Amino acid sequence: MGCSPSAETPRSGRAGDGGEDGREEDDAVRVSLSAESRRVIRQSWREIQEDVSRVGIIMFVRLFETHPECKDIFFIFKDVDDVEALRTSRELRAHGLRTMSFIEKTVARIDQDERLEQLILELGRKHYRYSASPKYYEYVGTEFIRAIQPVLKERWSPALEEAWKMLFLYITCTMKRGFQQAQREPAHT
Ligand code: HEM
Repeated sequence: MGCSPSAETPRSGRAGDGGEDGREEDDAVRVSLSAESRRVIRQSWREIQEDVSRVGIIMFVRLFETHPECKDIFFIFKDVDDVEALRTSRELRAHGLRTMSFIEKTVARIDQDERLEQLILELGRKHYRYSASPKYYEYVGTEFIRAIQPVLKERWSPALEEAWKMLFLYITCTMKRGFQQAQREPAHT
């Protein structure tokens, strides 16, 4: 997916790549969510919320399975090779919950464009400090969408999938901009 201006639907290609060396320009992110998509997101979130802890763990275990290089960025999981150990790890559970609680804040501010943008830009700036490259952000969205499908069961629909994809496109593109802003700031001595 590209961080495209006025993207009405996700485009093919990759999102959030190439920000590591600071050469890439900020993308103008104008991802628009229709009123219906916002409604669908809010409504489904109420159900996902009941399973946040499980969704958070599944999301990150799968992320580490499909992209093991992401594990190295988390100091505490770096040397854990056993996926089962990860699944039951208190730290992974805590990290999953932090991410899910951020998604909750995003859903709560879905109609407040300015506040939402600032919140996500700040998260992107923090990820620069964590050395977590933008090229991995889109995978989190993919795994989130895979993880919520069994939770929502028959309430799952293509429109719902599309709405969450758009929201994650916005999150990943805006985090990438925050990452790039922090990258350009002079280093503190
Ligand atoms: C949509 C994508 C992502 C979201 C929404 C997200 C969200 C978060 C949140 C809310 C925190 C806690 C921030 C705080 O303490 O205030 C965090 C921390 C962190 N994230 Fe992410 N993250 C994403 C992607 C990633 C990826 C792909 C990586 C690594 C490859 C990563 C690595 C980290 C690390 C190392 C920390 C700090 C340690 C920790 O809190 O456990 N993040 N993330």
